[in-house]
Amino acid sequence: MRIRKCIRIKNVPLLAVGLFVILTILKTFQHSRNQPGIYEREPNLTYMYESKKLDGIACVKFQGRLGNLMMEYVFLYVIAKMKHLYPIVPENSELFQIFDLEKTTLSAINKSTDSCSKLPEYKESWGLSYDEKLLAVPPNKSVRFNGYFQSWKYWIKYEDIIRKLLRFKNPIQQKAHDQMRTIMNKMKFEVNKDSVIVSMHIRRGDYATDGHYKYGKLTPNETYYANAMQYFKTRHKNILFVVGSNDIDWSKKALAKEKNVYYSTGNSPAEDIALLSLANHTIMSVGTFGWWIGWMAQGTSLFYKNIFRPQSDFAKEFLNNSIDDFIYPGWIPME
Ligand SMILES: *[C@@H]1O[C@H](CO)[C@@H](O)[C@H](O)[C@H]1NC(C)=O
Ligand SMILES: *[C@@H]1O[C@H](CO)[C@@H](O)[C@H](O)[C@H]1NC(C)=O
Ligand SMILES: *[C@@H]1O[C@H](CO)[C@@H](O)[C@H](O)[C@H]1NC(C)=O
Ligand SMILES: *[C@@H]1O[C@H](CO)[C@@H](O)[C@H](O)[C@H]1NC(C)=O
Ligand SMILES: *[C@@H]1O[C@H](CO)[C@@H](O)[C@H](O)[C@H]1NC(C)=O
Ligand SMILES: *[C@@H]1O[C@H](CO)[C@@H](O)[C@H](O)[C@H]1NC(C)=O
Repeated sequence: MRIRKCIRIKNVPLLAVGLFVILTILKTFQHSRNQPGIYEREPNLTYMYESKKLDGIACVKFQGRLGNLMMEYVFLYVIAKMKHLYPIVPENSELFQIFDLEKTTLSAINKSTDSCSKLPEYKESWGLSYDEKLLAVPPNKSVRFNGYFQSWKYWIKYEDIIRKLLRFKNPIQQKAHDQMRTIMNKMKFEVNKDSVIVSMHIRRGDYATDGHYKYGKLTPNETYYANAMQYFKTRHKNILFVVGSNDIDWSKKALAKEKNVYYSTGNSPAEDIALLSLANHTIMSVGTFGWWIGWMAQGTSLFYKNIFRPQSDFAKEFLNNSIDDFIYPGWIPME
């Protein structure tokens, strides 16, 4: 008994050292988990393909502009993940310049440039609704898809991964933060509990043309923006509105009576998404560009509810005339 007690007392320093080591290791581990690029990295897909853990390739037709390309990429990434395939992105895709994505191209796995075109093609039934047929393709078999895949339902189960993938490259992210700080200074805006930044994306340009209207694509007028801004004004004392648009002149006229509005000009589309998604809340109009801003900001997001003209060709891109598969859950409709 006395001997055992003696050993115990002697062991106390040793025990303390042991505990310290364990705690340090745990802390280091936790710390590195929070650092992007160490524990959070997704598997190296090229390596997976080379070591035969992936059985074939998945291709999509990349079409449209940045917002569309992002929708197409996340669909491709997730379907490839689900079906054990290697996702093929065009060699010179602008997505590689904007996001820190693994360069999963045909050349990365030494495949010839016609490898996708030879594959059987699956076409989506609706551009803006979830088509469950696409996810029913057999696993481990190379496949090609054609569509726009503008539905969060395709990848919502993997949303955490998508948020990590769609991180802007450092220079873009840094520039956005710098710009936001400059804007806040210029507008003499201070962040506190009563004040919020609300970004607005005003889509005009292509959407405001006769061609788009005839096809059935609608874009809101000044009444919508006034209503949407009012929504936030009734909830917050102090608001800074940051506006991005492909028609800044129209936006300035439409919002002429509003105070505390800053107009973002001169940014690339990617830089504008990065900047506007730093806001606390967002007002989108129509189109995928504003959609991604709302998704990235993760605040309250208002959207224009009359996206399509009833009975138009564009209306046919929505299953049962419903916009639910396109609009992210929880966003607030306005008109
Ligand atoms: C992924 O694996 C490939 C082939 O094994 C290698 O060439 C490439 O450098 C790796 N990429 C990363 C980001 O680790
Ligand atoms: C597909 O491939 C994966 C990974 O190689 C394997 O685990 C799975 O069993 C395969 N599924 C079928 C249906 O062959
Ligand atoms: C592609 O070619 C390079 C260089 O010839 C080689 O190192 C690599 O292992 C090849 N990869 C595949 C998937 O065949
Ligand atoms: C805006 O459009 C709505 C219908 O969508 C209409 O009721 C309203 O009068 C329009 N406002 C202006 C200022 O044109
Ligand atoms: C609002 O956004 C600003 C700028 O990004 C940020 O500093 C602030 O913490 C945000 N406020 C809230 C309540 O999230
Ligand atoms: C779409 O409408 C049809 C006919 O009204 C109905 O049978 C079907 O269940 C609806 N589909 C969905 C996904 O709501």
